[in-house]
This record gives sequence, structure tokens and C-alpha cells, in this order.
Amino acid sequence: MTSIPVRRRVVVTGVASGIGRALAEMLRAQGDDVIGVDLKDADVCVDLGTAEGRQDAVRAVLERSGGVLDAVIACAGISARVPAVIAVNYFGVTELLQGLRPALARAEAPRAAFVGSIVGTRPGAQNVVAACLAGDEHAALAAAAVLAEAGEGGALYPASKAALARWVRHTSVTDAWAGAGIPLNAVAPGVVLTPMHAAIAVTEEQRRIVAQAVPMPLNGHAEPEVIARALRWLTSAENSHVTGQVLYVDGGAEAVLRGPDHT
Ligand code: NAI
Repeated sequence: MTSIPVRRRVVVTGVASGIGRALAEMLRAQGDDVIGVDLKDADVCVDLGTAEGRQDAVRAVLERSGGVLDAVIACAGISARVPAVIAVNYFGVTELLQGLRPALARAEAPRAAFVGSIVGTRPGAQNVVAACLAGDEHAALAAAAVLAEAGEGGALYPASKAALARWVRHTSVTDAWAGAGIPLNAVAPGVVLTPMHAAIAVTEEQRRIVAQAVPMPLNGHAEPEVIARALRWLTSAENSHVTGQVLYVDGGAEAVLRGPDHT
């Protein structure tokens, strides 16, 4: 039997706020060595919305970790109606995970996960999604800019999460991930009470619209720790066989919105 290190070396992006922060606190409390990545207030301060920022992040993380990582968990994201949402939420996740994959492959029980969203179930901006999945950031941002200029920037955040939900399915089962023994999954929340939510649900009317769009019959809106706990399990050594999944931690929103006949 192989021995699994107790103190794991884990990268968490978006560590300065919300879900990433809650997760990092939880992991540090159980003795893990967390390398936090964010725009500021982190071990590695970079902009994951740019190719250079992602390369800097990979370089800095590899230096700090000695080239071996037990888990990478991408929580950084923005909610906005601008093309940058594609750069940060999609390429900031997929390129970072791919850049750090070789370091994961060197660990005994490597795991990876990221944060999706219930809105990834909403169809739309298919040309943006297709460009993302083709790995063409230039084309994805150009298509996103056309939508934003046409006043349809609201489709971009769901598109970034829909693309991630598809990416995880085909990437997770490849030789590079499953073949290297690395489970790769997403946790998709409904509404989580973080600064991101507070910024988009300022007025009573906005809060009503959000609650209507994301019905959560089980226990209502979630604290960030709820999402962090699911990410912690998916990236723990205990998870040997779950991969390619989008785990909806959403108080039932996905079941309500897609209905009982969706399988
Ligand atoms: P948050 O705003 O509290 O935290 C996001 C963190 O990401 C911040 O620390 C921010 O500085 C960092 N970040 C943003 N852009 C970055 C960049 N370019 N480079 C590096 N770091 C960057 O938000 P929250 O709620 O914790 O969101 C975390 C993830 O959860 C995001 O992917 C978000 O889309 C997702 N999510 C959140 C929901 C919610 O209701 N709060 C619902 C569904 C998904």
C-alpha cells in the first residue's frame, strides 16, 4: 500500500475572498500547506485574466512548491458583463490547471477541482463557448466583445461556466488527467453569500431577481464554507474515483431548473 502524505501541498486561487478564502482557512486548519493565488493579499499575486499572469502564477507556484503539488483548486472568478469574464473564469482556470498538471502528476494522490456555477446550465453564447473549448482565447474574447457591444454581455458569465462544465468532461478522462491518476471535477454552487453576491444583489429588487433565477428549496443561500467543504472532499485523497463531474452544491436549484426528467 502506498503511504499518502498527511500534510498536503495545495494551491487555492481566489484565496483573498469568499469561497477561496473559506477553503484556504479550512485546509490550513487541518494542517495543509496552502499556496494562495489572487490579485492581491496572497502568496502569489498575479492577474489570472492574462496569459502572462497565468505563466507567472505557474512559475511562482512551482518555485514555492519545489515542483510537486497534491492539489490545485481554482476558485478565482468574476461576475461581470465584459469579455474579461471569459479570460478570468475560463482561461484563468483551464490554463492554470494545465500549467500545474505536471507538478500534480508527481504527487502520490493528486487532485484538481474548480468552481463552476448553476448558471453554466443556461444555454447561450455558443460561439464563445466553442472558441473556449477550442482553446482559442483570442477568438473567444473577440466573440465576447461583439456580444458585450450588442448589450448582451449578460450571456458571458453563464458562457464561461458552461464552457468549464464541458471542458471538465472531456479533459478529465484523457491520458494527461485520468491516465495520470488525477481526478478533475467542478463544484457548481447556486447562490453563495460572498462579496461577489453582495455586489450583484445590492437592492431588494436585485435580491428578489437572483432568488427567483436560482431557486434553492434546500436550506436557501449557502455560506462559502458549504462550497469549500465539497471542494475539500473532491480534492482529498479519499476521492479515488469521482472525475469529470459537475457537483451541484446548490440547495436543489439544478433539479428545480432542469426538472425531474433531466438525467
Ligand atoms: P469573491 O469575489 O468573493 O472572490 C473571488 C476572488 O477571485 C477574489 O479574491 C478576487 O480578487 C479573485 N480574482 C478575481 N479576478 C482575478 C484575477 N484576474 N486574478 C486573480 N484572482 C482574481 O467571489 P466568490 O463568490 O468567492 O467566487 C468564487 C467562485 O465561485 C467564482 O468562480 C464564482 O464565479 C463562483 N460562484 C460564486 C457564486 C456566488 O453566489 N458567490 C455562485 C456560483 C459560482
